[in-house]
Order: sequence, then C-alpha cells, then structure tokens
Amino acid sequence: MELSQNIQWFPGHMTKTRRKIAEILPLIDAVAEVIDARIPISSRNPDLPDIIGNKPRIVLLNKCDMADATVTEDWINHFKKNGIMAIAVDCKSGKGLNLFKNTVKELLSEKLEAYHNKGMVGKPLRVMVVGIPNVGKSSFINRIAGASRAKVENRPGVTRGNQWFTIDKELELLDTPGVLWPKFEDTMVGEHLAFTGAVNDRVVDVELLAVRLLEILCKDYPEILLSRYGELCLEDEPYEILEQVGRKRGMVVRGGEIDTVRASNMLLEEYRNLKIGKISLERVENA
Ligand code: G4P
Repeated sequence: MELSQNIQWFPGHMTKTRRKIAEILPLIDAVAEVIDARIPISSRNPDLPDIIGNKPRIVLLNKCDMADATVTEDWINHFKKNGIMAIAVDCKSGKGLNLFKNTVKELLSEKLEAYHNKGMVGKPLRVMVVGIPNVGKSSFINRIAGASRAKVENRPGVTRGNQWFTIDKELELLDTPGVLWPKFEDTMVGEHLAFTGAVNDRVVDVELLAVRLLEILCKDYPEILLSRYGELCLEDEPYEILEQVGRKRGMVVRGGEIDTVRASNMLLEEYRNLKIGKISLERVENA
C-alpha cells in the first residue's frame, strides 16, 4: 500500500522533524507520546526512541474508549515492564487525563527533588507532545489545557512556530514541532492505520482491507462478530464470510451475487464508528 500517496511523507519532512525535535530537546523535561490504544504498534513512530534519546517518556494510549479494555491493560503492563510509564486516556471525553500530571511528576520525581533542594520552586515541567497524525494530539492538548488554554508567546530561545501551552503553574506543554511518521513501509502498519481511518482507504483495496479485518475479528472477537451480524460460518474463508455479511444486509446485486465492495465499506464504517464493538487490533504478543 502506498501510504506516501495518502499523507505527504518524504525524507525531507522526516529530516526537518528530526532537526526541530533535536533543537527543542534541551528545553523540555519529558516527551508525551500519543498512540492509538487499538493499534499501539502501528500508531507509533519506530524512530522516536532514537530521536529523543534518553529524554523521559510517557505513553498515552489514547482512544481507549474504542479499544478492548483488557488488551489496553495488557499494553500498559507491557510498557511498564519495559520501563515506560503508560496511561489509558480518552481525549474525547477526558477520561484518564486526571492521571496525566501526576504521572509526569512521578516520571520526573528526581528532577523535581533536585529543583526542590536547590530552592528552585515554581519552575514548570515542560512536556513535548508527539505522535503520528490522527492519534489525537490536538484533542489531548485541547482537553488538558481546557478553558485555561493559554499560549506562551515569545519565549526566548524558542523558535517561532512552536506552540507552548500553559496548563497550570506546574506544567507546560509543547505541541509537536513537526510531523511524525508511522512505519509506512510495513504493510500491516498501513492496513491497521486504514482500519482505524487514520489513513484514507481510498488508496487501498477496500475488499482486501475488509477481509483482513474479518480475519482479526474471527480470530480474536468471534462472539462480537456473531452478535453484530447474526449467524456466520466462521470456518469459511474470510472472503466468504464477507459475502455472508453482505447477504445478511441485503447487499445482493442482479444474478444473486453479493456486492462485496459495499459490504466491505459497511464493515469498515461500522468498525470505525464503534458499532461492532470495542476492539483492539494489536496485542502485546505481537509486540
Ligand atoms: P491529531 O492532532 O493527532 O492529528 O489528532 P486529532 O486530535 O485531530 O484527532 C483525530 C480524530 O480522533 C478526531 O476525530 C478526534 O475527535 C478523534 N479522537 C481524538 N481522541 C479521541 C478519543 O480519545 N476517542 C475517540 N473516540 N476519538 C478521539 P475526527 O473525526 O477527525 O474529528 P471530530 O470527530 O472531532 O470532528
């Protein structure tokens, strides 16, 4: 799949983002990496650890309202085991965001203690928010900054164009200085981003995408699939299951054939709109 057709990625953008982040790193205390809880592997930028070096990092598993809560919990534990603090958040409703500040403080407890010992009170913690497009970075900033959303203007040493937000006297956020990219050379990543709608599926074969989604649903969520579409023969080939779904929804064309393109679009749309259920497409076992 040609993700590059869809989002304007090219090496120049990557170089520019790397450079901008490198410039900003000395000014920040930590990085908040926003990823999609349904696809924690595909919605990450694989180069991020390399780009930010040893800067402390917190992972925000966003859109947790759309993910399978048990799987999200597994991911949180997985990150913890790897020494990375992670929290589940829903930036649409604000759920989980109350944990953010304390998690940042815990992450930076040594630094805060050092500030305290040196009498440097009132120095806010500065956190840079990063993530690939569509994971919910703006929603996060809007939610957490809320009504008190206040831009910090004209800070010395900060390049024009970087957006800082004061959350309160203890915390400031910086919006991503550039665009981060997914691992778009990986087909699975492209498909999973397309399932969630992060990538426009006009560039992908919609039937192939629906079949792939059905494969995952049959394997991991057979009950949910059956309760949504009624009796299906899950032992059949995924394409045949797609036909069964189409038939059940009356998507029959002349000659009795099933309009599988329509069925595919419907399936994907229902997945994205949470009509099928809270479904996680990537599990810790695959990390
Ligand atoms: P970005 O800055 O990382 O590019 O992402 P952005 O905040 O623009 O969010 C991308 C889409 O994801 C938006 O939907 C946003 O509402 C939705 N979104 C963000 N966080 C959450 C969440 O925790 N849960 C759910 N369910 N959705 C979330 P959109 O369709 O592009 O716009 P709209 O629906 O807000 O109009």
